[in-house]
Amino acid sequence: MDAYVEGYYEDPTLGAGAHQAAGVTCLQCHEAKIEDQVHEGLVWLAGDFSTDENGLLTTVGVRSDEKMCTANGCHDFDEVVAATENWGGEEGVNPHDSHQGRAIDCSNCHGAHQQSIMYCNTCHDYEVPEGWATPERAGDAA
Ligand code: HEC
Ligand code: HEC
Ligand code: HEC
Repeated sequence: MDAYVEGYYEDPTLGAGAHQAAGVTCLQCHEAKIEDQVHEGLVWLAGDFSTDENGLLTTVGVRSDEKMCTANGCHDFDEVVAATENWGGEEGVNPHDSHQGRAIDCSNCHGAHQQSIMYCNTCHDYEVPEGWATPERAGDAA
């Protein structure tokens, strides 16, 4: 789990690192469910996993969603929606509230241990926050 722990402590550009700086522990995001821990422990012991060049697991089962991020009063989603209204100065554009839905899985865009990506730009050409990746284009929309 070294890459996850190092990123958490040493890389403030990552979601996990930014949360560490704000005093958020691993377990505040990762609910300690006993069956998960048993499974992870067994997988770890068996060496039955593969990692990419950054040492992150290639098969990631965890996704961040509204439940994870609003648990324990961490994020108020109404405030999150308000923070990104008229995104990039474009009237009516909001990554947190669109025809894709309100509160679609946060992992579509926000990486915790990896770079974030502007999912909407699979089809659109909206402003990309500094340090975020732009996805491959799948199609063109207004
Ligand atoms: C801000 C919330 C947050 C914090 C803090 C955090 N994580 Fe994560 N973690 C996630 C999310 C979300 C994912 C899904 C992949 C991603 O976004 O990078 C994930 C994925 C993982 C995975 C891959 C799990 C799997 O089976 O798919 C591991 C291992 C992990 N985290 C370990 C840690 C450790 C260890 C710490 C503390 C040193 C930590 N995380 C801190 C949110 C967090
Ligand atoms: C379609 C992409 C996308 C999705 C999905 C998404 N976000 Fe965001 N989020 C953004 C962008 C873009 C920003 C602006 C980042 C910046 O300005 O650096 C942002 C900013 C934020 C912020 C900071 C807001 C502030 O006060 O400045 C929070 C908190 C946040 N998102 C939480 C969430 C949560 C929780 C979810 C899932 C329920 C989520 N986001 C889903 C794209 C997304
Ligand atoms: C798979 C492609 C695709 C993705 C991903 C996508 N859109 Fe769209 N979007 C479209 C298409 C197609 C239209 C209709 C385009 C037109 O009217 O010319 C559209 C229209 C819109 C409009 C115009 C308003 C409306 O509803 O008529 C907005 C705003 C918008 N999208 C925001 C977003 C945001 C924010 C995201 C990311 C959360 C997103 N879209 C993701 C394809 C996509």
